[in-house]
Amino acid sequence: MKIIKSVADLRHERMKQTHKTIGFVPTMGYLHEGHISLLEKAKMECDWVVLSIFVNPLQFGPNEDFTLYPRDEARDLAIAKKIGIDLVFVPGVEEMYPEESLTRVNVRQVTERLCGAKRPGHFDGVATVVTKLFHMVQPDRAYFGMKDVQQVAVITQMVKDLHFPTTIVPCPTIREADGLAKSSRNVYLNQVERVQATILHQSLTEVEQRVQTGALQTASEMVTYVTEKIKSQPLAHIDYVEALTYPRFETFDQWEQEDILLAVAVFFGRTRLIDNHLIRFK
Ligand code: PAJ
Repeated sequence: MKIIKSVADLRHERMKQTHKTIGFVPTMGYLHEGHISLLEKAKMECDWVVLSIFVNPLQFGPNEDFTLYPRDEARDLAIAKKIGIDLVFVPGVEEMYPEESLTRVNVRQVTERLCGAKRPGHFDGVATVVTKLFHMVQPDRAYFGMKDVQQVAVITQMVKDLHFPTTIVPCPTIREADGLAKSSRNVYLNQVERVQATILHQSLTEVEQRVQTGALQTASEMVTYVTEKIKSQPLAHIDYVEALTYPRFETFDQWEQEDILLAVAVFFGRTRLIDNHLIRFK
């Protein structure tokens, strides 16, 4: 497994890989089973797999957890090696952003709600760094988790609009045994918060069941149900609860013959957790 820190070395290694299917999994490290599921899928489907580990300052707001974001490079590299990753790209901030960068990639519409509304500039930061990484790695296939469903939508739209020769592969959300979506940020939770955090998946599951049986039909009933459930946990502070059409992320009144997305963002102390369920129209 090659461990590469510079863009020049990455390009050099990439140039040698002709006639191969190149798989790419961009991450911010502190790898868990969610990341591992992406890497394993890439490994199965591609001939040469690149993992990037880069905590991207551009996608963090001024009061967010950029400096506190958990990091453990040695552990991440050991995991990557065990999976059989071919190249790990671990650039420093000065390598990715050597000078003040004046260009931003901005995807409209799909960024207007959910995390896009609550974290101004966040998706510009994501789209910009993913564009840079795609130019460096030139992947045939890139793997993203549905836990960050809006990120999948943004990158899919960007790839289509800008004609990147890359297929975006959405992958299912991996969860703990009690349903909490795996996240690098879960380590911030104390014991009580960790127990209460199960309310995200639990409330979404309950609404999904009630929608499928017809007991809940309007977006506002769905949002109210989830909101009340989450509020039953004293340490949970809601950032948003939304029910939108999928994949366009538009508001709706009544559920009618389309897929819908229930998505939540909830603070436990300073830790912000997100989760979502897609309800497919059968
Ligand atoms: P990061 O949060 O490290 O996530 C890297 C990838 O792992 C993303 O595609 C994310 O959706 C996926 N992932 C995280 N938790 C998951 C889970 N429980 N199940 C399945 N997949 C999961 O997302 C980012 O980094 C950054 O925004 C990045 C795309 C790297 C750009 O900086």
